[in-house]
Amino acid sequence: MNVAALLLLGLGLLEAEGRCFFNRTQEHCVCYNLSQESVSSIIQCLPASVVEFLGGELERYIAFPIGNLDPSAIEMLGSLVIRKIIFGDLLVPEILLARVLRLFSYTQVQELVFERCIFEGRGNWDEMARQDLPILSLHFHNVTSAPLTGREQDFSSLSSWLETLQELAVTGSHVTTLPCGIGRVFRALRSLDMAQNSVGDESLMLAFCKGAFPQLQVLSLQRNNLTSYHSVCESVQLLPELQHLDLSQNKLMADLSSSCQWPASLRIFNLSDTGLDKVLTPLPPSLEVLDMGCNHLHTVDISLSSLKKLFLSQNMLQASPSIRNCPMLETLHLDNNLITELPWDEVKLLGRLWDVAAAGNPYNCSCSGAGGVQALAGMGHLGQGWPQDYMCHSPPHYQGRLVKDVPVSVLQCNSAAVIAPVCVALALLGVAGAVCLVRSRPGLARPCRKV
Ligand SMILES: *[C@@H]1O[C@H](CO)[C@@H](O)[C@H](O)[C@H]1NC(C)=O
Ligand SMILES: *[C@@H]1O[C@H](CO)[C@@H](O)[C@H](O)[C@H]1NC(C)=O
Ligand SMILES: *[C@@H]1O[C@H](CO)[C@@H](O)[C@H](O)[C@H]1NC(C)=O
Ligand SMILES: *[C@@H]1O[C@H](CO)[C@@H](O)[C@H](O)[C@H]1NC(C)=O
Ligand SMILES: *[C@@H]1O[C@H](CO)[C@@H](O)[C@H](O)[C@H]1NC(C)=O
Ligand SMILES: *[C@@H]1O[C@H](CO)[C@@H](O)[C@H](O)[C@H]1NC(C)=O
Repeated sequence: MNVAALLLLGLGLLEAEGRCFFNRTQEHCVCYNLSQESVSSIIQCLPASVVEFLGGELERYIAFPIGNLDPSAIEMLGSLVIRKIIFGDLLVPEILLARVLRLFSYTQVQELVFERCIFEGRGNWDEMARQDLPILSLHFHNVTSAPLTGREQDFSSLSSWLETLQELAVTGSHVTTLPCGIGRVFRALRSLDMAQNSVGDESLMLAFCKGAFPQLQVLSLQRNNLTSYHSVCESVQLLPELQHLDLSQNKLMADLSSSCQWPASLRIFNLSDTGLDKVLTPLPPSLEVLDMGCNHLHTVDISLSSLKKLFLSQNMLQASPSIRNCPMLETLHLDNNLITELPWDEVKLLGRLWDVAAAGNPYNCSCSGAGGVQALAGMGHLGQGWPQDYMCHSPPHYQGRLVKDVPVSVLQCNSAAVIAPVCVALALLGVAGAVCLVRSRPGLARPCRKV
């Protein structure tokens, strides 16, 4: 048992009394208030794959001696099935962290998460030099620490580990800058999530300097302090592998057009809720997914030959966008705009389009309006908002009714298209000498008067 508790002991959890709760089906164990917990309670977490520590005091263990481990202890740590450890609501002395992190090299923990933690002081990371850790994913959410600037030395001590890290998230933590040198250490990083910070245009430019994050594929800058579309373009153009860029919830300005080219690898682009009142250019040429929802767009006319998904919900579009130049389009979301009719004709032309969502629009339930929407629904193209969220706004006698309930029989609607041929047929009959037929059954001729 002593050995089994070693990792946790190393983390300063020994002498703890209190309670851990192990959920066997989820293989998830949560321990509250570290300093009051007992080792026997923590032991039950050992079969878990995810262990969460919430609250408590780590500072008490700063001076805790962590020596070299004997072989049986190392073997024990290696046999633990824990893959992910979450620390929440803790004050973490960096000195302790630096010493404990070393123990992880004997484990199979792949994911380390710190939530609502305060990192205190500065640790000595020299001992970590040339240490490999199995941790591939590191998340910090809502944490506070000393500024990262000027800490390149610490990062270089950690470099043999950081060079292998694949995912890093530092979210909701008031980060304003990311020094260029740090990006050069993260050579294998695929995903960087910096959402909900205060990164501005200029510091972004510095962060993605030449040689920084060479393998980066996914970058989230959601809800930061970015304002210039072109400045962001200039910043990320040195990322040759970038596939997914999230700029949502920044307030982007339509600045002067520039010749900046987005990385050709970019496939997924999130510009939702960025205050746009027109489509910014240039767009990355090989996009497959474009989200421009929650903006103030009045019209959209784009041609992107590989685009598969276009999200335009919550804008001010008065008409469905022209999609003729997006031949690969499969998904088109137009909920909550000012659209009165759906372009049934265009949809028919685009065979690939199968997922259309357009609830919450003020539909004109004239024959063609209601008919177009019903036709889309009939083909199973409209998603979960159908029929309850598709309402008529005009003409007055249909206002407030569901589009689904508007009668649109062929005869009532397409009077020109349907009735004209009927008349022609009748006329031909007449020419054929069937005058008596018309005379004896005058009802048949009646629709013609409408034409
Ligand atoms: C374990 O988690 C599952 C799924 O969330 C839940 O249904 C179950 O009630 C939990 N068991 C315990 C003992 O909390
Ligand atoms: C943790 O400790 C705090 C105060 O120290 C207490 O209010 C809270 O109820 C404790 N939580 C648990 C789950 O024991
Ligand atoms: C951070 O945590 C504090 C307290 O736990 C909370 O009030 C705050 O909203 C959180 N901030 C973010 C960005 O999540
Ligand atoms: C955001 O940027 C503006 C100017 O670019 C600056 O004045 C402001 O202080 C920044 N806000 C934060 C929270 O960093
Ligand atoms: C874009 O970001 C918003 C949050 O800002 C999110 O709700 C939405 O799902 C994202 N769009 C895509 C296509 O991932
Ligand atoms: C609704 O559509 C009909 C037929 O296309 C048109 O005559 C009418 O003006 C439209 N009404 C509104 C409010 O757009």
